[in-house]
Amino acid sequence: MRFRSSRGGWVPPPAPQLVLPGRELIGPGEWPSIFGREAPLIVEIGFGKDTFLLEQAEAQPERDHVGVERDTHRAALFLKRAAARGLANVRALPVAAEMALGLCFPDASIAELHVYFPDPWPKVRHAKNRLVQPWFARESRRVLAPGGVVYMATDDEPYRDQMLDVMSAGGFVNLMADGWQEQAPLGHETKFERLWRRRGRGIHHMLFRDRATTGAGAPALSATTASG
Ligand SMILES: C[S@@+](CC[C@H](N)C(=O)[O-])C[C@H]1O[C@@H](n2cnc3c(N)ncnc32)[C@H](O)[C@@H]1O
Repeated sequence: MRFRSSRGGWVPPPAPQLVLPGRELIGPGEWPSIFGREAPLIVEIGFGKDTFLLEQAEAQPERDHVGVERDTHRAALFLKRAAARGLANVRALPVAAEMALGLCFPDASIAELHVYFPDPWPKVRHAKNRLVQPWFARESRRVLAPGGVVYMATDDEPYRDQMLDVMSAGGFVNLMADGWQEQAPLGHETKFERLWRRRGRGIHHMLFRDRATTGAGAPALSATTASG
């Protein structure tokens, strides 16, 4: 993506930025002024060292992309990669998901939410640290725009079942015909997905939509039709 300068020539787009609550983000409704336009918002939580969101941003310049990652080194790497690709429609929000979903987005503002391979916290006494809990479903429902969707994946079967239960109890419909599928509906395999596949672990991709905005009888999606 390239921009016309005030003198008529072409200039590189502004470098993608780190957005800090209280500094660049004064209130949850600031995203249009941060991006300089009104566009559908795509948000990924916990991108780690993966490039899924950057590929989405490159393929869909008409949408704006916010990566939430609490590890600031990974957020910096993400922005470096975004700048190398010349992406103006990307920002990093280097905070915990709890703060991002709870405080940094207004109601009905996000078109797609993506969560891939969140830490499984396998020990029973640590399960309370998992990301997908009732608060997550509640805040996701609040921030999703009508018709918005949540993409999720994990290799951990107990966590998969927790995701299915929590999202269903939180008012979401599962759009996967068989509950989950092994292939990523949007085609990208994340860094952790590749790692777990190499180790022979099963992969579970899920896709949810708010029950209140899903028409009765809406078709279940399959690997070939789930394109967001
Ligand atoms: C297992 S890695 C998965 C990375 C990537 N999604 C992938 O599939 O390759 C989980 C990532 O989520 C981040 N993370 C964990 N809990 C988080 C939270 N509450 N808020 C934001 N990021 C979180 C971690 O820092 C880590 O980078």
